[in-house]
Amino acid sequence: MAAVDAGWTVIGVDNFEAKVAQINSGSSPVEDISDSQLKVALSKGLYKATNDFSTVSQASVITICVPTPLDDKREPDLALLRSAATGIAPYVSDETLIVSESTSYPGTLRDIIIPTVNKLKPEASKNVYFASAPERVNPGDPVWNQKNTPRLVGSIDDASQVKALAFYESICDTAVSVSTPEVAEAAKLLENTFRLVNIALINEFTQLCATSGINVHEVIDAASSKPYGFMPFRPGVGVGGHCIPVDPLYLTWWARKQAFVARIVETSAEINQNMPHYVASRAFQLVRAGVSKPRILILGVAYKPGVADVRETPVLELHDHLVAKGAEVAWCDPLVTDWVGTKSVGQNWPCDVAILATRQPGLDINELIAKGTPILDCTNSFANKTGVNSL
Ligand SMILES: NC(=O)c1ccc[n+]([C@@H]2O[C@H](COP(=O)([O-])OP(=O)(O)OC[C@H]3O[C@@H](n4cnc5c(N)ncnc54)[C@H](O)[C@@H]3O)[C@@H](O)[C@H]2O)c1
Repeated sequence: MAAVDAGWTVIGVDNFEAKVAQINSGSSPVEDISDSQLKVALSKGLYKATNDFSTVSQASVITICVPTPLDDKREPDLALLRSAATGIAPYVSDETLIVSESTSYPGTLRDIIIPTVNKLKPEASKNVYFASAPERVNPGDPVWNQKNTPRLVGSIDDASQVKALAFYESICDTAVSVSTPEVAEAAKLLENTFRLVNIALINEFTQLCATSGINVHEVIDAASSKPYGFMPFRPGVGVGGHCIPVDPLYLTWWARKQAFVARIVETSAEINQNMPHYVASRAFQLVRAGVSKPRILILGVAYKPGVADVRETPVLELHDHLVAKGAEVAWCDPLVTDWVGTKSVGQNWPCDVAILATRQPGLDINELIAKGTPILDCTNSFANKTGVNSL
């Protein structure tokens, strides 16, 4: 849509037929794109979705933005990236720019995409240009979007960089030129690893403060009064979504490939992974003595407020720990209807303890407070209310 707004005609190629049909019917699958914005682009012929890869031959710019998840061993799974590169290659026209926007380890463009395309592209397509410009979108963010978030651009040669900068300068306010694709790829991993490490630091510090009876939020507020050299992060159930828990593991894998151990990153990932267990223990401390199978209500299960996305949500681990500890667990999320094979219950489901895991819009804990239900607030939203315990 950012490219459409900039005057480009855009084709979205996706091998998931249901999504193609949904988009072409004018129903947006992306929170930050409204149906009306999509419908205008469709009706003007500026955008369409298709599963026909041959349409790629019409493109002068191809951006690859397929998921880059982890496999069963929690290592990079580049199967979709490989299949996307394989899918477009036979249809790449001469003088086309190919950009990788997917998050991956430094070297992905050069090691995987370029050899695949060069092997399978039509013989007549002599000049193909390659760049990396990692996606930086923050879903649900009312301020930062595709247009006003600066975009890193790193290419394999000068000619590619000229084309890539021209494209991103047309759709973003600022394109930041870096010397190689590897710098852009590494910067993306650094950005998300920075968040993972700082969240782990505050999660660990929170547990330490709790054992000493110190309110960690007051400590964070106090430290934040320093005008330089400190940036506040808040504790929570853990890290979720398809970026913060995943991308740093691309970094640790890339490090190990070079016989290097990224110790601080590995430890941070472990601390965050243990947070759901810690939160479950804290919730059980709030159960009245003598209740052997407590009813525990989780409020908010998406990985962050304002989205319906439950991918990699740490609330899943929390749910499973509570069940393993013998609780009867229900959950409520105004934006999520089905999850872990069950449906969202009403937010006043009778319970022994409620855990506010994600502060979703529409959640209201006042009735639970009025009933005297103990609440563990992992979001620090209701710090001064009676019966509410912050992490
Ligand atoms: N969504 C974000 O908030 C965000 C932010 C920053 C970076 N990223 C990165 O962007 C990339 C894409 O993430 P996403 O969340 O947009 O993905 P997504 O899960 O929304 O998937 C994008 C689409 O790719 C399609 N797809 C998968 N394999 C394909 C193939 N071989 N050919 C054609 N289509 C295929 C899927 O059907 C899906 O519709 C990832 O590398 C992610 O790390 C995403």
